[in-house]
Amino acid sequence: MARRGGYEGPLRCLEQAQALQVQETRTLLMTSNLPCALRSADFLVPCATDRVALAKYFVNVRAVSLALATSLSTEDQGAQSEPEANPTKWHLAHTTRFFEAVVLMPYTSCVPFDPSYLLFFKSYYESLGRRHPEAQRRLLTRPSLSEVHRYREHIDAAVLKALDKVDWDTLKSIGPLIILGLQLEQQHQERIATDALLVFSCKPLPPT
Ligand SMILES: [Fe+2]
Repeated sequence: MARRGGYEGPLRCLEQAQALQVQETRTLLMTSNLPCALRSADFLVPCATDRVALAKYFVNVRAVSLALATSLSTEDQGAQSEPEANPTKWHLAHTTRFFEAVVLMPYTSCVPFDPSYLLFFKSYYESLGRRHPEAQRRLLTRPSLSEVHRYREHIDAAVLKALDKVDWDTLKSIGPLIILGLQLEQQHQERIATDALLVFSCKPLPPT
């Protein structure tokens, strides 16, 4: 299966999961930590210019990423089993970077939370500048997981403030971008689960 044309991680993960009986862990990741108060209706894509509905949708989708990670230890969240699979911590920061770099910096007075994050947590789009080598994301022991959480909180607050305050023309620009960013967030939620399973499949002990 071709690289990028077809990400191999989930397939390998499932094969290895069978061998190591990590199905229980999959179930745990996919169900027990999701915010139980949220229902499928909370994830319907709203009108891009409905400030209140979009703010609620933003909070709900972003919450799922953290909920998925709650069953993982700090060490789990820094592990990278192969170049194509990313640490949970990287996923959490990468999706946050989208809102900072694509929504806030071009359309509000937002300054970078930490300029190095724009490099560390950038993905594949070379035309948008340099990026940290993909295979070395496991070496990003700094920023710490708690700093990444602080980054998320800072950017979440800034996006919600922008949704509340920006003028109508700006809202028409950032609304669709926020929805795009939340679809990216949901894509990375799948990756958080599959990449964590791949990490578990590589360890010698059965899941606990
Ligand atoms: Fe991405």
